[in-house]
Amino acid sequence: MNIDGRAWRTIWLEEGGGAVSVIDQTQLPHEFSICSLRSCEEVVDAIRRMVVRGAPLIGVTAAYGLMLALRKNPSDSSLTNAIAALNATRPTAVNLRWALERVFRKVSSLDYSERADVAKEEAFLIAEEDVAMCQAIGENGLELIQKLAINRSDYCASDPINILTHCNAGWLATVDWGTALAPIYKAFRAGLNIHVWVDETRPRNQGSSLTAYELACEGVPHTVIADNAGGYLMQKGQVDAVIVGADRVTATGDVCNKIGTYLKALACFDNGVPFYVALPSSTIDWSIGNGLQEIPIEVRSPMEVTHVNGIYQKGSGSSEIVNVQVCPDRTTAFNPAFDITPARLVAALITEKGVANASKDGLEELYTLAK
Ligand code: MRU
Repeated sequence: MNIDGRAWRTIWLEEGGGAVSVIDQTQLPHEFSICSLRSCEEVVDAIRRMVVRGAPLIGVTAAYGLMLALRKNPSDSSLTNAIAALNATRPTAVNLRWALERVFRKVSSLDYSERADVAKEEAFLIAEEDVAMCQAIGENGLELIQKLAINRSDYCASDPINILTHCNAGWLATVDWGTALAPIYKAFRAGLNIHVWVDETRPRNQGSSLTAYELACEGVPHTVIADNAGGYLMQKGQVDAVIVGADRVTATGDVCNKIGTYLKALACFDNGVPFYVALPSSTIDWSIGNGLQEIPIEVRSPMEVTHVNGIYQKGSGSSEIVNVQVCPDRTTAFNPAFDITPARLVAALITEKGVANASKDGLEELYTLAK
């Protein structure tokens, strides 16, 4: 997608294959900088610090991390240690485990001399497939948005389709296009009049810092709102649909996504607003059925709640990214990073294979028929 008219991806292999470049998301929207990751240890650190984040991008980055580990040392113990270190970075998004297992299956039976090159090929393939899946999600979601426009008698140039989204499930969370934002980009490019309500997404503000940044770069009309504003906007008829991404979807259609997603789904239910979840198949965990009981929820530092990042304008044109405290000194905070939305609250799952009911039958039918 575009930044200042130039097309970017979030991750790419540097020439020679000895390092991987990523956009440093900890600095956005204030600074655009590229980070070069030269070892598996640097990849581990980048995922943990959320230099890269978003379920699909975490998976792709981890796959490249495994390649870097094997370049340094292709032994069995190096392979298992690297997988363990990468897997431990972020426990919730299943794409991480999925991508590592995929590379492992390709390399584990090979001679040591072949492992790094084959890991590189597989990581590249995972990245390319992610782009294709996100594009297809975009096309499938576009049809839903077109239906929303047809069904809204007052839809016109001055009264757009209003989509609310939570967190960042745009191209920055994937390799390109995004999941929840892909249908929005496709709709915008197809000429639909569309406007996005962007939940700021406390505590790390992926909405106000990343989603708003992406949409602004693409020129898509959007408005940032406090996380608590969505229910009111739905009551006032100002939300036509909610589309979010996912970090893990169970085989029965339960959805794990950024903390606060569940509250949006509840508000949708009460107001008759369709709540859609966009995801690639790499986000489905076919091994589990009960999201609340079986998905490990990452608990992050309380400092993400007690403090916020922003840009401080120092005057005379200079500025600095600063982190400021918003709570009293002795207040404690708790920071679960994800929640579970039960399948019954999900209007449909938008996948690369098509649109499915959020249920075991819905998912199985889509993926069996599509094979
Ligand atoms: O903690 P993050 O920023 O990695 O969380 C990201 C999300 O919750 C996204 O909505 C999800 O990964 C879907 S990304 C296409």
